[in-house]
Amino acid sequence: MLILGIETSCDETAAAVVADGSEVRSNIIASQHTIHAAYGGVVPELACRSHIENLQPVIAAALEQAHVTLGDIDVLAVTHGPGLVGALLVGVSLAKALAYSLGKPLVAVHHLEGHISAIYLEYPAVPSPYIALVVSGGHTDLYYCPQRGHYVVLGRTRDDAAGESFDKIAKMLHLGYPGGPIVDRLAQQGDPSAIHFPRAMLDKETFDFSFSGVKTAVRSHVLQMRDTRGGRFFHDDLFWPLPTSLEWESHRNNIMASFQQAVVDALVTKTRRAVVQTEARAVVVVGGVACNSALRREMHRTGEECGIPVFFPSPILCTDNAAMIACAAAHRYQMAPRYYQEQCFLDLDAWPDLILSNVLAEA
Ligand code: KG4
Ligand code: ZN
Repeated sequence: MLILGIETSCDETAAAVVADGSEVRSNIIASQHTIHAAYGGVVPELACRSHIENLQPVIAAALEQAHVTLGDIDVLAVTHGPGLVGALLVGVSLAKALAYSLGKPLVAVHHLEGHISAIYLEYPAVPSPYIALVVSGGHTDLYYCPQRGHYVVLGRTRDDAAGESFDKIAKMLHLGYPGGPIVDRLAQQGDPSAIHFPRAMLDKETFDFSFSGVKTAVRSHVLQMRDTRGGRFFHDDLFWPLPTSLEWESHRNNIMASFQQAVVDALVTKTRRAVVQTEARAVVVVGGVACNSALRREMHRTGEECGIPVFFPSPILCTDNAAMIACAAAHRYQMAPRYYQEQCFLDLDAWPDLILSNVLAEA
């Protein structure tokens, strides 16, 4: 079974061809990072326009790389939420038009189910039950998954997503966009124990997260910092102009490492607690922030201490892509092929705040 996956929920225009739910024949991603970099974050209107321009060429490239034509595709799959409504609509509209004209079934996929499904492209036998930590630019959610396609939400962020906090710190200090990979790189040259930034809600019973406090703590710390001659590095919270001294660079790297450590500690501590409480047999970490080197290292260490395996997708499958959407669709389709063959998808819509629901419950 060949599935064409389409993903346009945020700032990546992506299409992929996946065979039998696991073999990635092509995975094309047109990133809009250069468009949004000037603003330090995604501008919804620009994202939407860029998807309109890029989606058809991206699909053509995915088909070409997989050496297939549209006629060879058995099932179409598209992200219908959550995300930016204008961006989602581009993918949903084109997917509906293609499915209708080809007379093929269309599977609507939840973006976070896509992220979690990415793990099955490389590790088809993840032991259940497992804890899934979804950490991206828009979400920080912790799920208990008794089996594939079943999601019991344990906690989520009450304010900023983990990736959003990386992006905002990088924007504040004019480091570039997206902030995660930049902070990760600078942190590798810094000392994670140099500054103690707060780890919110660690002493509370809840599995919820909060990352807005650490962002504010970094802001206050940088404003108060002084160089060796007692002068301030910055006079206001525009943090401009940036100092060029080696002394600043060293401080900056320590701040990045200490900030990253605070975020990683919160993510790892709550995940570990969830493992102990639910007696899960594995941990799955997905979403763009799953690329983070410190998170990967510390989560693996925690897995070893708990005696369970920890799974991360390859970096290209952590950030937004359409292979994960096709993979999720394959599972949903296999659970209920007739449902998808007979359903009328013409009223399918984009849902910016779609809730993640179980595969079997929906089918
Ligand atoms: O999953 P994704 O591509 O898009 C969303 O669904 O949001 O995640 C993008 C997020 C951005 O916030 C980006 O800064 C973050 O993932 N990210 C990272 C790293 N690479 C990407 N955060 C921390 N460390 C990284 N190495
Ligand atoms: Zn995502």
